[in-house]
Amino acid sequence: MHAAYFFDAYGTLFDVHAATRKLADKVGPEHALLSDVWRQKQLEYSWTRTLMDRYADFWLLTQQALDFAFAKVPGANQSARKELLDAYWTLDCFEEVPVILKALKECGVQTGILSNGSTGMLEAAVKSSGLKDLLDHTISVDQLSRFKAVPAVYQLVTDACRIYPDAVSFQSSNRWDIAGANAFGFRTVWINRGGQPDEYTDLAPDLVLADLNGLIGKGGKPA
Ligand code: LAC
Repeated sequence: MHAAYFFDAYGTLFDVHAATRKLADKVGPEHALLSDVWRQKQLEYSWTRTLMDRYADFWLLTQQALDFAFAKVPGANQSARKELLDAYWTLDCFEEVPVILKALKECGVQTGILSNGSTGMLEAAVKSSGLKDLLDHTISVDQLSRFKAVPAVYQLVTDACRIYPDAVSFQSSNRWDIAGANAFGFRTVWINRGGQPDEYTDLAPDLVLADLNGLIGKGGKPA
């Protein structure tokens, strides 16, 4: 058992494709492609802006990425832009999330989010998905003005909890985020929801799960 269990937000707790799925009829048949391009660009902007030292918060990057996705996928209905962004602001969490966070809290460990998401985005999503009372910390990279996977981002967790990296179990569905967290010294659990092939093999996760359910073992204790 670890002293603290921290989670990536987008893709791990919150379903990033829920917004386009919800508006699939309005967006049109290419809604899944639009969603994929949107997510890929959002992430790319976070990495390039960190390399350039030109921070812009994740909400702005999310809007710019959606505009690129619409240009790239011209068949998608652009009049859905505002509704898509509204849906992204209050994304649904994956169904097992509340149960797993509650079980962790009952074990007496600290729980939290460490995310690229802006402070406003995270507050809105945590509130709309009813997770507020199940999380001790919601940490945004906003306070650092740099995105994952710079080591200083992961250090926000150890600074906030006043613990060493090996006391933290970090869960993410993003393999590159797992690599960064591993390099910093966290114990890492890759939540491979999409059945993606492995990469960054020199920075391997300690555990791979298909979703968060496996995080709690049979005796009700964290795996
Ligand atoms: C996050 C992005 C990377 O929540 O999914 O940090």
